[in-house]
Amino acid sequence: MNSNLKRFFYTLVIITCMSCNNKSNTTIISSEELEIREKVDSLIQIMTLKEKIGQMNQYNGFWDVTGPVPEEGSAEKKYEHLKSGMVGSMLSVRGTKAVRAVQEIAVEETRLGIPLIIGFDVIHGYKTLSPIPLAEAASWDLEAIEKSAQVAAAEASAAGINWTFAPMVDISRDPRWGRVMEGAGEDPFLGSKIAAARVKGFQGEDLSAVNTIAACAKHFAAYGFSEAGKEYNTVDIGSSTLHNVVLPPFKAAADANVKTFMNAFNDLNGVPATGSTYLLRDILKDKWDFKGFVVSDWASIKEMVVWGHAKNNKDAAKIAALAGSDLDMESYIYVSELEALVEEGIVEEAVIDDAVRRILTVKHELGLFEDPYRYCNEAREKEVVNSKAHQEAVLDVAKKSIVLLKNENQLLPLKKEGQKIALIGGLASEKNSPLGSWRIASKDNTGVSVLEGMQQYKGNELIYSKGADVTTGDTHFVNELKINTTDKSGFKAAIKAAKNADVVVMVLGEHGFQSGEARSRVDINLPGVQQELLEEVYKANPNIVLVLNNGRPLAITWADKHIPAIVEGWQLGTQTGNAITQVLYGDYNPSGKLPMTFPRHVGQIPIYYNYKNTGRPVNEANNVFWSHYSDIENTPLYPFGYGLSYTTFNYANIKIEKSSFTIDEPINISVEVANTGGLKGKEVVQLYVRDLVGSVTRPVRELKGFELIELDKGETKTVKFTLNKDTLGFFDNNGNFIIEPGDFEVYVGGSSQAELMAKFELK
Ligand code: BGC
Repeated sequence: MNSNLKRFFYTLVIITCMSCNNKSNTTIISSEELEIREKVDSLIQIMTLKEKIGQMNQYNGFWDVTGPVPEEGSAEKKYEHLKSGMVGSMLSVRGTKAVRAVQEIAVEETRLGIPLIIGFDVIHGYKTLSPIPLAEAASWDLEAIEKSAQVAAAEASAAGINWTFAPMVDISRDPRWGRVMEGAGEDPFLGSKIAAARVKGFQGEDLSAVNTIAACAKHFAAYGFSEAGKEYNTVDIGSSTLHNVVLPPFKAAADANVKTFMNAFNDLNGVPATGSTYLLRDILKDKWDFKGFVVSDWASIKEMVVWGHAKNNKDAAKIAALAGSDLDMESYIYVSELEALVEEGIVEEAVIDDAVRRILTVKHELGLFEDPYRYCNEAREKEVVNSKAHQEAVLDVAKKSIVLLKNENQLLPLKKEGQKIALIGGLASEKNSPLGSWRIASKDNTGVSVLEGMQQYKGNELIYSKGADVTTGDTHFVNELKINTTDKSGFKAAIKAAKNADVVVMVLGEHGFQSGEARSRVDINLPGVQQELLEEVYKANPNIVLVLNNGRPLAITWADKHIPAIVEGWQLGTQTGNAITQVLYGDYNPSGKLPMTFPRHVGQIPIYYNYKNTGRPVNEANNVFWSHYSDIENTPLYPFGYGLSYTTFNYANIKIEKSSFTIDEPINISVEVANTGGLKGKEVVQLYVRDLVGSVTRPVRELKGFELIELDKGETKTVKFTLNKDTLGFFDNNGNFIIEPGDFEVYVGGSSQAELMAKFELK
């Protein structure tokens, strides 16, 4: 760095430091924001065009990849660019040592010494893993979800990371899509609340604190609607679905001050999301006034050529930059194409300045200019990562994520003494699968297995017999076709163990690597030979508790018909086995509710609770001409919002303050919920609305409120909800938010099939 520039740069750093000492009220914070803007603008003034473009370039570290690596991505090339100030961000570099090493190059060896922002997929934890996000959504416990993101942020920031590519807020109605495990399910209302909780958890109150990281709302937008659930596929949806279903969680993240957004791999109605001016400029940056930056998805800028939307790399770089993609993840083409595009007058330098301003602002907010090594404290890394407190926190949210799907004859909770229990299933002894597929920083096999969990309850005799594996060998980066096992040699021993047992606990489902990115499946039954194993064991002893471990809804229709007790145990992260066992033994009374509909059959997909009524919803004429399939019921196997407890709840006395309201009035609703069973328990009280007539047809039900309550046995609580024009309005087909007078029905209960109903009119 030449000495004048260096002096200038360090003056900036000092002024930033001074401003950071003055944080006591909101006015000062906003003046700080103003100061950051001034710093950033003065820095931009002294940057060459090349250096600005460098800030818009993000490289992966030199190991884990989540996409193809082209030749330009060689380690040598990346180092060369890093040294010449052509890299603004790196991803997947982890650990204080490794981060310091790349940060030193950026800060000490480049002309302006601008620090890197280090991104990482901290999806449900860094080393200590929480449940996969879909599972966590099943807790409907916003406090627990926020806490889990806080734990993830604390560990990641202690390991040198500044920014996570989470939360994924993609709504999806298609469990064939492998990435449903990474989101909050099918509902925009629940999804919005969870999006905000996760952003809050990651970013905290102060982004420059050493235990917080910047969050990223992804994938903007509509990736969850990839046709037929096939990964990286096309998306064709109308304006109503886009605005009413897909966008709300993104808006909620933006309102929660999320610092970054990520593009999506899909096209949306013919335009790749990465190059969509409509999404990025018109909606995100203009309408929502989003001030952070947008990162592309892995090579998604370059892939616009493959999509047939851009003629070549140069064209792709132009389209993405003009649309508002600020940072190029792993396409290597901003760095090779943007300079010429500016020099030729095709892309105005103001576009580049805007992108760079956004990126530098977030770096400032993280405190990286003040001290680029603030997240590189090795002692802190040792103390924080995998701490006991974190293990406890993830166990807490893991228990809350479990959903009791069926419990005939109160087979659960298990008796703690005098029982012979046969534990069956390859997944029962798995220590790797519970970690899910997003666990780049975690060591393999560090999850607590169900077997280990069960072994802690010494009052019963436990016999473990695997029966069958789900997959064979290495499941990392391998197509399922190659790994599904057909080996039934363990059946015999499992059947024998079942015959001799009082109760059989079977842990079946998907391996952690069977859901996640690039893990779409057409068949959502139990994979491999597990269904057969279940049926064979059932013949030997029908007293079965089926524990599912999976990353998506499964079509377990046979099991629902025959197996007396079913527990949805997902992939619950590091503490999986402990959480599941505590629920099986009743040390934790399950309270989770499904965030996504479970179909009876894969052919029902997309199946979701907030569907439209159609013109022929019921079989009035008693003939075939109504909206249905002729070979299966219309209903799901388990609806959205469903989940049982070891106690029971009764809903009564739904009251709406009056029968008609003006549009501006709040609508107060109350309901009495009683614990009618024999145990203390938690219940998610859910409120759904039906707008009976709309200029755009309205769903049969929409979640508009929920509250998680805890009741002692015999206790009754009055739960109150308030609706208003924001919750009752909707987006019309031009993307305008409107509210229409008319009649509404309100349903309150413990699932989307709640029956208790009251009505009101909006005038
Ligand atoms: C995924 C993103 C992820 C990125 C970086 C992509 O393949 O779609 O969600 O953040 O890789 O690892």
